[in-house]
Amino acid sequence: MDIRLDATPIEQYAAEVLVTLAFENENGPHSLNTATSGWFDELRESKEFTGKPFEIAILHRPSGLKAKRLAVVGAGKTEKFNLTELRKVVGAAVRALKAKSLTNITLALVNATPEQISVAVEGAILADYEPDRLKTDAKKDEKRLASFCILGPATVQVALDRGRILAEAQNFTRSLVNEPANLLTPLKLAAEAEKMAATYRLDCEILDRERMTQLGMGSLLGVSQGSAEPPALIILRYKPAAAATTDHLALIGKGVTFDTGGVSIKPSDGMEKMKYDMAGGAAVIGAMQAIAQLKPNVTVTALIPAVENMVSSRAQRPGDIVTSLAGKTIEVLNTDAEGRLILVDAITYALRLGCTHMVDAATLTGAIAVALGHIHVGAFTNNDPFLGKVMAAAKQEGERMWHMPLDDDYKDYLKSAFADLPNIGGRYGGAVTAAMFLKEFTEDKPWVHLDIAGTAWLDDVKPFLSKGPSGIAVRTFVRLVTDWSVL
Ligand code: BES
Ligand code: ZN
Ligand code: ZN
Repeated sequence: MDIRLDATPIEQYAAEVLVTLAFENENGPHSLNTATSGWFDELRESKEFTGKPFEIAILHRPSGLKAKRLAVVGAGKTEKFNLTELRKVVGAAVRALKAKSLTNITLALVNATPEQISVAVEGAILADYEPDRLKTDAKKDEKRLASFCILGPATVQVALDRGRILAEAQNFTRSLVNEPANLLTPLKLAAEAEKMAATYRLDCEILDRERMTQLGMGSLLGVSQGSAEPPALIILRYKPAAAATTDHLALIGKGVTFDTGGVSIKPSDGMEKMKYDMAGGAAVIGAMQAIAQLKPNVTVTALIPAVENMVSSRAQRPGDIVTSLAGKTIEVLNTDAEGRLILVDAITYALRLGCTHMVDAATLTGAIAVALGHIHVGAFTNNDPFLGKVMAAAKQEGERMWHMPLDDDYKDYLKSAFADLPNIGGRYGGAVTAAMFLKEFTEDKPWVHLDIAGTAWLDDVKPFLSKGPSGIAVRTFVRLVTDWSVL
């Protein structure tokens, strides 16, 4: 897709379709009202267009403009309008227009700030993504955005590039998440990470089963033993040319390429969605793609434990006791609580690599969706100031996160008669006990856990996004890293 900025005055730009925003409670006439001989006034009077978010009206051959069409898109109330709304509104315009085969889109944002330019580009690229790689419809590419041009200040190329880098990274994550598990095995995910690393010059190392056995990652290996597909611990390293701090951030992502539940098998209804159980890992890989291009000045190591959780004669049984890399023994009371089992070995390995801070993203529990629905990510921590940074990054990026509790009292929910820890708690507070289990392995280093089980998959299409993988957490990760010293 061709993405660019142009400083040509709006009236003189010969666009296929020129998009402009209008608010619900706009004071006075729209800036293009006169040029279009009062079209905006007429529209409003007719109530055909009120300015509510994502509404759209199209005028053909607007008299005072060189554009072939003028599209006005509703931006809602001015007092509610912010960068997050702008990203959505631009996305909604793109999806509405490309559905009409209008694939060369020009957006008028004359006095835009650099941040507005970034999010407008993000909105367009994110809206253009369709989870249709495996559909054979020959015409599907005709409805992809061919070009996106912003009429605005020409001095903000950096902002345009940032938006493109971020949204392409998020779409890369979404495409990984959308791949079915027969095509995206743990080794295939590792190969995708390696390919990305080679393109963007990151260091990539894959620990195979043999190496993990040598190291003693019994917790991770126990999950993978029921699958014919070998596991992988994917490690991506970003090192700045000149680090501004000795901080070393680990980004850790759950990479279960398919979760049957194992012997504690899941019900078949909806099990097909368990291909998205690697959304945390994919978010980390996508974020690293953006980080490699934006070149922030903090050291980042990504760790993605990748396994398939299957049922077979070799599969782990309920009651099995495994020894984690940290040396703690774990009684596997439920083989479906596998995410925490692979994450703790990755956490211990991150600590051995010298990481000073850790953030993980994982589709860890159904319980987080019971608690927060599909709106907020559940955010847990052992260090409130560090969570404050992550939440500030999330807020800037319009990714909603909610601070969940992790008081020591919850530790009482994790008691095993035969091992140091069980891998599940009782009936209540499932998302918290899962987080508590992870916390036991963090050695009190600042750590944030993001449970994205409720937010990584959209069951319904939105005006500004296709259904399917959302790519949640990618932008928060990138913002956290690029703004490390100012958050
Ligand atoms: N991958 C699931 C969590 C999940 C559920 C993700 C729904 C996305 C949508 C995880 O491995 C799991 O199965 N967790 C169990 C934990 C339970 C056995 C304590 C759960 O949430 O039911
Ligand atoms: Zn599971
Ligand atoms: Zn899982």
